[in-house]
This record gives sequence, structure tokens and C-alpha cells, in this order.
Amino acid sequence: MHFTITGGTKLRGSVSVNGAKNSALAIISAAALAQDGATYLENVPLYTDILDLCEILRALGAEVTFVDRRVLKIEAKNITNCVAPYEKARKLRGSTYIVGLLLARMGKAEVAMPGGCDIGARPIDCHLKGFEALGARAWLEHGSILAEAPGGLRGTDLFIDRASFGATINLMIAASLGHGTTHLENAAREPEIVDLANFLTGLGATVRGAGTSTIRIEGSRRLHGVRHEIIPDRLEAGTYLLAGLASGGEVEVKGVIPEHLATVCAKLVEVGADLEMGPDSIRLKSPQTLAAVDVQTQPHPGFPTDLHPPIVAALARANGISLVQETVFENRFNYVNELVRMGASVRVDRDTAIVRGQPRLSGAPVEAPDIRGGAALVIAALAAEGQTTVSGVQYVERGYEDLEGKLCQLGAEVSRDGHALASEGQAS
Ligand code: EPU
Repeated sequence: MHFTITGGTKLRGSVSVNGAKNSALAIISAAALAQDGATYLENVPLYTDILDLCEILRALGAEVTFVDRRVLKIEAKNITNCVAPYEKARKLRGSTYIVGLLLARMGKAEVAMPGGCDIGARPIDCHLKGFEALGARAWLEHGSILAEAPGGLRGTDLFIDRASFGATINLMIAASLGHGTTHLENAAREPEIVDLANFLTGLGATVRGAGTSTIRIEGSRRLHGVRHEIIPDRLEAGTYLLAGLASGGEVEVKGVIPEHLATVCAKLVEVGADLEMGPDSIRLKSPQTLAAVDVQTQPHPGFPTDLHPPIVAALARANGISLVQETVFENRFNYVNELVRMGASVRVDRDTAIVRGQPRLSGAPVEAPDIRGGAALVIAALAAEGQTTVSGVQYVERGYEDLEGKLCQLGAEVSRDGHALASEGQAS
């Protein structure tokens, strides 16, 4: 599968963003904590990882159905199986949350070591250590995570060695059903963690402090279904803003929570963009020439690691040298060689991409290595002269729904597998 992109058009118009993938993966898993009633999740994005996670829940005994295009109903009173299907679970990172879920619901779990983007070693030691602190035994065997807590989990105070997004979610899920109070210290602070906390509170647990590095969870012995709307995807929004910037255009992202993008917006202003913030929208007007800037990725509220490749693609045409330091994942640079094929001057020195801005990029056949690296190549292609073919679209589509449709809506010339989409008259 590939995108064919003819660059050189300044993007103009508005796009709406989907529900946040990384929030949805956590909340869909947590929904199966409820022994009573049904949960309805609104604004669920339709990615393969989400559909695979739904399959896993079904295999455990939950009833999971889309009752509308973006509304997922989950009824989990009959969870009977403690073993997640290996081939499904190994495909996605979010399947680790099934361990927290099953430990809390069944006192036992067997889930394949997860896959996900190849952006670093991605160990799960913080997850396992946390489960142990909650009273479980957790270990790796034959490619799977095994865990058991025959006497149930008990609340405790625990320090997460690294402010891991996934470990914080997994431990919040595990600690919400059962007895006792858990304090998570050094918790991750991403908006998706707050979304999960609100959801767990809706199920009947008491969760305080989400969004800070100390989260307090009072488990409840029974949880019940609830209706919840997934927050908008700040990473998708940031990608469209950066695409607009790289193309020299003027774009608006709608249906966002602007505060979630504060650090990203600060960088956009630093490169010279004009931003207009609405209550749920951000409009970006590109400068004539982009200024070079330095960026360091950090856990939230720092600059998100997921937008590192997209911002490097935009800075490839800036005026001067930008340094983009990656501090979260050690192997986020797989996209760099492909960007260089397009005429970008990017050199990686240890954890830093040194980006020497060039006046022009030129289209080339390139391959997406992962979700965000793929998004970076698409952004570079929009800014490049001539035609680019981005293969490996299946990776990009793990994090962007209808990317070609939305870009065409902004006036870009993009087709997927040779099927052209009308690009005129669709901007809204
Ligand atoms: N880490 C450990 N031990 C652990 C857990 C993590 O050393 O037990 C390390 C990782 O190796 C990494 C760092 O801590 O170097 C951060 O990892 P984290 O656990 O925070 O990330 P994650 O849960 O694996 C999620 C998202 C990623 C996103 C990161 C950071 C999902 C499914 N994945 O990964 O999303 O980049 O948080 O915000 O939610 C993407 O959407 O493209 C994506 C990769």
C-alpha cells in the first residue's frame, strides 16, 4: 500500500481530528473492568489496533460491538478467559493493558509480549514491578507476560521508576477494581491519562491527581458501565498543523483541546507561524520562511516524542540549523534516511537530529518505518517538488484515519494505491 503525493500545494482549509488513539486503547481495555451494565464509548477512532483490541476483549468473553460508526458498546460481565489470543496481542502495544485488566478481574493473566512501532527497546519492567507492588507475581515466559494474584490485588504506594505512559495506565486499570488505595508516584501526566482517570471515576472508582505526577486510586469492588467520549487526538492535530506549516499554507484543526497542544504551539510560534486559538480549534498561518528552532522531546507537558519526526520534516526547509533531541525513545530516527532521499540534510548524532534547512526538497520513492516516521515523510512530500511515493502506508494508518482524504480536503494532491481523490472544492 502506498500514497502518491504531488507536492508544492500550500494547504488551505479546515480538518476535524478523531478521538485519541492512545486514550481509546486504554479506555477500551478499562471498560472490561465493569462487571455490571454496558459502557458506550463515543468518538472512537477506527484503527486496526483498536479493532484488534476489540477482538482480544471478545476472546476473553466480553461483548464488543460498534452500535454506530464511532460508538463502541462494551459489556463485560462474562469475562471467562485469562489468556489473550497470542497472535492478536503481540501485534499492538496497547495489549499490555489486558494484563492489568485480567489481574484485576480474574487474578490471572497471560498476554503475548506486545509489538507496536519499532522505535526503541520498549521494555515493560515498570509495568511488571508495579503489578508486583500491588501483590501480584508477574514474569515473562515463552514470549508472553504471565501474572497471577490468587489473593487479589491490594492497594499500595508505589514509585514508577520511569514516568511511563503505558505503565501508568496499566497500574491505574489494575488498581481501580479491588480493595485499598494506591498512590502512584512519578506517574505520567499526558492528557490521555486524565481521560482514563475520568473514565475510571465514571465506572465507580475514585481517582484523584491525574495530570500530576501523583495519582491516588481508591479501588471499588464492583464497577459499572458508563457513557464516555474519548478526547480529541492532539498528535493528529499537531501533525496537520505541521503539514500546513511545511507546505507554507493556512490550516485550521477543529474539535481539539488547544491546551493539550500548548508546547507544540509555542514551537510553531517560534518558527514564525501566526496562531489563532479558538475554544476548540487552532488556526495556523505559515510565515514566508521558517526560522530554525531547537526542540527537545519530553514526556507531557514537554514537546511530544510522537511529533518529533513531523517537526523534523517541517524544519527540513527552515532557514538555518535546527537541533531536535529525542529523549524518550532511543530509536525514533528510522525515517531520517528516507527524508535524506528527498533532499533533506539531516544527520543523527546520538540522540539528536541535526537539521540543516534546505531551500527545496524533491519527491522520491520512500518507505514509512512507523506511524510518526511515516507522517514525517508525508509532510516532506507535501513540501517537496514533484511526486513522492510513500510505501508502508499500513504503518501510517495505525495512527491516522483517512489521511489522504483529510489532506485532499486541504487541497493536497494525494492518492492511495493510485486511487485519486478529488482535491478541489472540498476545503471546509
Ligand atoms: N520504558 C521503560 N520501562 C517500562 C516502560 C517504558 O524503560 O516499563 C521506557 C520506554 O522504553 C521508553 C520510555 O520509557 O523509552 C517511554 O515509554 P512509555 O511507556 O511512556 O511509552 P509507551 O506506553 O510504550 C505510549 C504510546 C506511544 C507514545 C508514548 C509516549 C500507546 C499504545 N503508545 O507508548 O505512542 O509515543 O506512550 O507518549 O499508547 C504512537 O502513537 O505513535 C506511539 C508510539
